[in-house]
Amino acid sequence: MDVVAERVAALRGERVDHRFKGLPPDAAGLTVGELAAQRRTLTDGGFTTPLLVLSAEALDHNLGVLEHWTAQRGLAFAPHGKTSMAPQLFARQLERGAWGITVAVPHQVRVCRAFGVPRIFLANELVDAAALRWIGAELDADPGFEFVAYVDSVRGVQLMQDALAAAGVRRQVDVVVELGAGDGARTGARTEADCAAVAAAVAAAGQLRLVGVAGYEAEVPDAGPEQVRAWLRRLVALAAELDRGGAFGGAEQIVVSAGGSAWFDAVADVFAGIGGMSRPVLPLLRSGAYVTHDDAHYARVTPFTRVPGHLEPAFRLWAQVVSRPEPGQAFLNAGKRDVPYDLGLPTPVAVRSAAGLRPAPAGLGVSRLSDQHAWLSVPPDDGIEVGDLVCLGLSHPCTTFEKWPLIPVATADGTITDYVRTFF
Ligand SMILES: Cc1ncc(COP(=O)(O)O)c(C=O)c1O
Repeated sequence: MDVVAERVAALRGERVDHRFKGLPPDAAGLTVGELAAQRRTLTDGGFTTPLLVLSAEALDHNLGVLEHWTAQRGLAFAPHGKTSMAPQLFARQLERGAWGITVAVPHQVRVCRAFGVPRIFLANELVDAAALRWIGAELDADPGFEFVAYVDSVRGVQLMQDALAAAGVRRQVDVVVELGAGDGARTGARTEADCAAVAAAVAAAGQLRLVGVAGYEAEVPDAGPEQVRAWLRRLVALAAELDRGGAFGGAEQIVVSAGGSAWFDAVADVFAGIGGMSRPVLPLLRSGAYVTHDDAHYARVTPFTRVPGHLEPAFRLWAQVVSRPEPGQAFLNAGKRDVPYDLGLPTPVAVRSAAGLRPAPAGLGVSRLSDQHAWLSVPPDDGIEVGDLVCLGLSHPCTTFEKWPLIPVATADGTITDYVRTFF
């Protein structure tokens, strides 16, 4: 067993207790492995509401879709780990051929390292001296550890250089220049000239090594296919330009990285045209949200609205009707603490009452969330009542995972086969 698989397997030894909402109170004291072995069911396993559940089949499907998508198109894959912060899913992504794991902040690098992830792509600027000291020590201690971070300013390069030099770090830290994805984009140097200046600063910084270019196309207001492709072509041209100028002289390969879960079709198309560089190229995709997909935002923006294929929403949240004070109004016991609301509200998918399971009727909808309640609008003739369960589809994988430290994984027949631990 490799290191990641071994450390992930050790999570099964953790005790189930009050830290993990939704889990059966009578399972307290069991290890996660023991509870999983009991194969409890969703309906009578003693779980309490609200309860977030992952579909085993949807997870398998989605993991396979991006595995094959990247393999067929010659892309290396570093799925964004900040989506789930679930090392068990990192392990499955790595088993399926991922080059490494992407993260966003130093804490997330620590989680990856704690689980032995050998290649980490930090898709963010890193100028925190304490974090640089720690990452430098990790690099020096483990020759097999590969780490790449963004740079987008000369000052940032200097801060990195100073922190690493002060810490006496021996190995160089690999960096890629981030090209901002246009006006109004998030981080990233705005022009090719700015990128060249950053590259020159890296060349002068003995603690750093320039290994490529990167960016993120989705954080552009009103991004559309033409705009995204035009920016991706700029990114590829920037890599070629820097290469011609000898900027990657110390690198074995040139990293060209972009892509989340909304534009991986455009990334594959444009990166297919990369060629004529001085050394091998690593075209690196970083999708993260694909792993669970969703019922709202990603359902709308997925490339599979443009190209053949599909992802499946893997999350379902079960909440209970706890109050029915007016004819058109019910309240569920799930609120902002339990469900995402930054990219849309949850949508009812099904209702389970004493009479059985039925699809959610038209007009049943979440209109608002309090901390611990969902405001459920009820159509006039619907008999939903206190005690019924409502199954909700969710809107944003990243802000779903973060609310649940231990998430049951259920097969289609409702058997809980595993539990996914998150570290936020
Ligand atoms: C820099 C960067 N790369 C990749 C991703 C992954 O994108 P997605 O969440 O759409 O999969 C994100 C997500 O926020 C990101 O910020």
